[in-house]
Amino acid sequence: MGGKISPSMMCVDFRRLEESVRALERAGVEYLHFDIMDGHFVPNFTLGPDFIRSVREMTDIPFDYHLMVERPEMLLPVFDIREGDIVSVHQEASVHLQRTLQQIRELGAKPSVALNPATPIYAIDEVMDDIDLVLVMTVNPGFAGQKLVPSTIRKISGLKERLLAGGYADVEIEVDGNVSWENAVKMRQAGADIFVAGTSSVFRKGEDIEPLITKFRTCIG
Ligand code: DX5
Ligand code: ZN
Repeated sequence: MGGKISPSMMCVDFRRLEESVRALERAGVEYLHFDIMDGHFVPNFTLGPDFIRSVREMTDIPFDYHLMVERPEMLLPVFDIREGDIVSVHQEASVHLQRTLQQIRELGAKPSVALNPATPIYAIDEVMDDIDLVLVMTVNPGFAGQKLVPSTIRKISGLKERLLAGGYADVEIEVDGNVSWENAVKMRQAGADIFVAGTSSVFRKGEDIEPLITKFRTCIG
């Protein structure tokens, strides 16, 4: 099965939101990635529950929530989390990570642990039974348009090996940050399954989304 695409909605042209969502539907993307930032865990604010609710009214594409917030468990009730959605919480922001992952599972969503570039992959060793995915940050979180942290490519392959060795072949690897066409090829070769597509691939000023998605798919097999 080929790689899956999760376009980063903080990069969308907000003046053409509904038109962009329709184009993403026509292009057959598997998820929509929503970056939630609280100004504490990362020095930025982005998308809120009202914005996300309005997108939910436009489409049935599953949502891919990326909670870049302190104490993410406090925010689970704030967002409209549904069966089939992904919810990624940062290992670095979760004192009771295993309980939070259980809460996400109880909501019917896919629990996922996000790891910053400096966080080693063994940080998830004790929650492998509780996750459906690992979100490997390939930039330091907080902003679109950043440059890849090169060591994260090796990290993806190390994580893939660790998951396979532990009998967790079903746990998917999502990658997020400067997932350009060139970087996406390397990330796919390293073992990535889901690709957060932002300003370096499918949301490029003045360019139509659908042909960019078609080109992006050729990079992820
Ligand atoms: C960064 C976010 C990413 C970002 C991706 O903290 O998690 O999803 O929007 O944007 P690009 O692809 O421009 O790095
Ligand atoms: Zn993200």
